[in-house]
Amino acid sequence: MWRATVLTLFPEMFPGPLGISLAGRALAAGLWALEARDIRDSATDRHRSVDDTPAGGGPGMVLRADVLAAAIDAAGAGAERPRLVMSPRGRPLTQARVSELAAGPGPLIVCGRFEGIDQRVIDARGLEEVSIGDYVLSGGEIAALALIDACVRLLPGVMGRLESGTDESFSAGLLEYPQYTRPQLFEGREIPEILTSGDHARVAAWRQAEAEALTRTRRPDLWAARPTPPRQKPPKNATDG
Ligand code: ADE
Repeated sequence: MWRATVLTLFPEMFPGPLGISLAGRALAAGLWALEARDIRDSATDRHRSVDDTPAGGGPGMVLRADVLAAAIDAAGAGAERPRLVMSPRGRPLTQARVSELAAGPGPLIVCGRFEGIDQRVIDARGLEEVSIGDYVLSGGEIAALALIDACVRLLPGVMGRLESGTDESFSAGLLEYPQYTRPQLFEGREIPEILTSGDHARVAAWRQAEAEALTRTRRPDLWAARPTPPRQKPPKNATDG
């Protein structure tokens, strides 16, 4: 079964929001498993200390390499499981990476706190640094919750066939088109007429155009990187060169 193992100083933050709604129902149904382990359980001294002052000076505290390595080793995650550490300096998380993680056995995720983690444990345990965006959270836990949520909704049986179609639009490299529902008139604003026309081809074309316009203006980076749309079939009798 797909499993997320989280190493954290705040295990009580899990499952948190993953215990309700779609992910929570799937968790209760045994479609995936979550294990939150307290890094502090691997501390060895009397005070159960997990951090210390940064070598070279500076503010804050750094998570100790020996304690975190012991916590990782005690989690007993096999080499086949990806080992991640949530960090604002990591590689940005993408839907493509989420799909890979969802297709595998499930990751071990280290949640950082304090000013950082001793670099030697990142190197020695081969941790992949992952960011969920260019802003700084107070710790990796909320980032880990986001990553796990994104994976869980892709697991077999978690979402119906209908919803999973929306991934394809994002995987196609476009933002989602606007949605509407009743009432027909809201504070003087109508649902776009095409959407109530019953003409499925026109609806599809409108949605595609809206998705493209949104992506172009809001996310020029995604627009530039989008997969090239399938080429039109060459006309019959087209010459080779
Ligand atoms: N920890 C703190 N900020 C983070 C971010 N933006 N992404 C992942 N982990 C983090």
